[in-house]
Amino acid sequence: MAKRVIIDTDPGVDDALALILALRSPELQVEAITTVSGNVPLEQATKNAYLLLDLFGPKPPPILARGRARSSGKRRIMAQSVHGSDGLGELNRFKNPDGSTRYLYPKLPRDLPDATEVLLDLLKRYPDELTLISLGPLTNLAEALLTDAKRVKRLREVVIMGGAIGVPGNITPAAEFNIFMDPYAAQRVFKSGLPIKLVPLDVTEKVCLRPMEIENLAQAMEEPLGSFLCDATSKVVEYMRQVQGVEAILLHDPLAVGVAIDPYMVKTTLLHVEVETQACITQGMTIADLRPIRNDLEQPPNIQVALEVDTKLFLSFFKERLCRR
Ligand code: BDR
Ligand code: CA
Repeated sequence: MAKRVIIDTDPGVDDALALILALRSPELQVEAITTVSGNVPLEQATKNAYLLLDLFGPKPPPILARGRARSSGKRRIMAQSVHGSDGLGELNRFKNPDGSTRYLYPKLPRDLPDATEVLLDLLKRYPDELTLISLGPLTNLAEALLTDAKRVKRLREVVIMGGAIGVPGNITPAAEFNIFMDPYAAQRVFKSGLPIKLVPLDVTEKVCLRPMEIENLAQAMEEPLGSFLCDATSKVVEYMRQVQGVEAILLHDPLAVGVAIDPYMVKTTLLHVEVETQACITQGMTIADLRPIRNDLEQPPNIQVALEVDTKLFLSFFKERLCRR
């Protein structure tokens, strides 16, 4: 039977690829997509999720729900320099051969449901069955915990793309973007006792697609998916070339979806992990207790952390799913 999942996301080019991967994977039953502000402001994230569902979603589509606009972190930084001003690589640049606009945003319904309410409703319907895949800041899940922690504890699993355990951060030297954007929410979630699997930069930075692979993949894919892959990724690849000297897109969020489907794509270690919420320079840092000596004073482990990844396995899975017709 397919795993029932909710995907909480801030699309984001790699979020878009993660959503497409999930929607094309029979192992998952996507019950809802909930949006959060992160890479782009909430309204743009919601528009993007709606566009992606319109282009690549099943009919009828899963529920789309809007998250809360304000994160407890109150960060104003977005990642538009990486993902483009629209979060999807500036899709309005692209035209069809006949001159018409290639990507038309469908009008977003005004009355979209609230992300927290949808999560709590689905948990009432499917207690102990739902997996939450979190691809953005943890604002919505923290909000749900504040509203009804008892109900949220009926999640079967939470797979989170976020954190940097043994590697530097990507938004500051210490912090990974999703955790940095709402560190209070992340700390609340980490301390909640939920069964968490963390997919941090330690593993996500090892899975990437280079321009040649993107081109080959796009040619093997059906339309409009192939064009979307090239169009949406070109800005990120260029950003990575200029800023990090690596011409590639890192598949952070798709790896989290991969792990929700097949846990053997990564090797996890059970660790005690907390988030720095007080400090200035290290705000949003994920601190894991990696000390080899254990004693009675240590805090109990709370998170399964992915520290190794089978890169080949994931990439061939990802490519196969995108090319599947
Ligand atoms: C995470 O930050 C975002 O920019 C990506 O979508 C991913 O979720 C990587 O740090
Ligand atoms: Ca994301």
